[in-house]
Amino acid sequence: MSACVTLDPSRDEVFAAPNGGEAALEGFAFSARVARVFDDMVTRSVPGYRLLQSLVAELTLRLSGGGPIVDLGCSTGNTFLALEELSRASGERLHYLGVDASAAMLAECRTKLQPFMGQHDIEFEQLDFTGRRSLGVSNVRVALCVLVLQFIRPMERQRILRKIHRSLCQGGHLIVVEKVMQQDRAHNALFIDWYHDYKRSVGYSNTEIALKRQALENRLIPFFASENVQLLQSAGFDAVSTFFQVMNFQGFLARKGGEGE
Ligand SMILES: C[S@@+](CC[C@H](N)C(=O)[O-])C[C@H]1O[C@@H](n2cnc3c(N)ncnc32)[C@H](O)[C@@H]1O
Repeated sequence: MSACVTLDPSRDEVFAAPNGGEAALEGFAFSARVARVFDDMVTRSVPGYRLLQSLVAELTLRLSGGGPIVDLGCSTGNTFLALEELSRASGERLHYLGVDASAAMLAECRTKLQPFMGQHDIEFEQLDFTGRRSLGVSNVRVALCVLVLQFIRPMERQRILRKIHRSLCQGGHLIVVEKVMQQDRAHNALFIDWYHDYKRSVGYSNTEIALKRQALENRLIPFFASENVQLLQSAGFDAVSTFFQVMNFQGFLARKGGEGE
């Protein structure tokens, strides 16, 4: 009698045998292979991801006042789905622009958001923020940059944040979520160890954890929380607050312009 193995095509097995080693050597990219399993990957790789999405959606709806929302690095549109779920009761029409450099991620996003196209104003744009072009939007009420800056080369981050600052209206807000390092070396080591235990608890093997870590080397570069705050302030944001932290993931709310402007 042969064992019955159920394969789940949407399960993240990018760094599992037999092809994990090859994927690690190639380095991490938001390719079609990642896009197909991204939802499982992000849900199991970011502790508190669902809570994070609902908090981002709550803050966004409080601050957008029915105005445009730009989701920079929207991936497969999970933040839109959280916004849609929350706005359903009030019947609020969302004005949402999803921007991402990866054609594969945007294709998944389009498919997932298709059922909502008539109910809300939804647009997509394929754009690499590191390019010379401006973001091509202005007077934005809320910009989102959730788990994205960490993938942008450190030297480029300030310029990207300035671009985002320019695209916001006075009094507009930017929500940034990042993987962060801890200032204290022992705490940092503890948090990393704790995070790997968390990944084991959600089903990743030691090999998958090690290979993904290798693939992300020099691709995902976390800053200290204080560096992110400083970066936001240097880009022109007047007020920066923390709204989320679970393990080594932190969320910041930044405002353009003084209170009441
Ligand atoms: C971890 S995912 C973001 C997750 C998503 N915001 C969420 O809340 O589920 C990072 C995304 O940023 C996009 N990205 C990375 N670098 C980019 C760049 N330079 N320009 C535009 N998008 C970029 C990737 O294609 C990817 O879809």
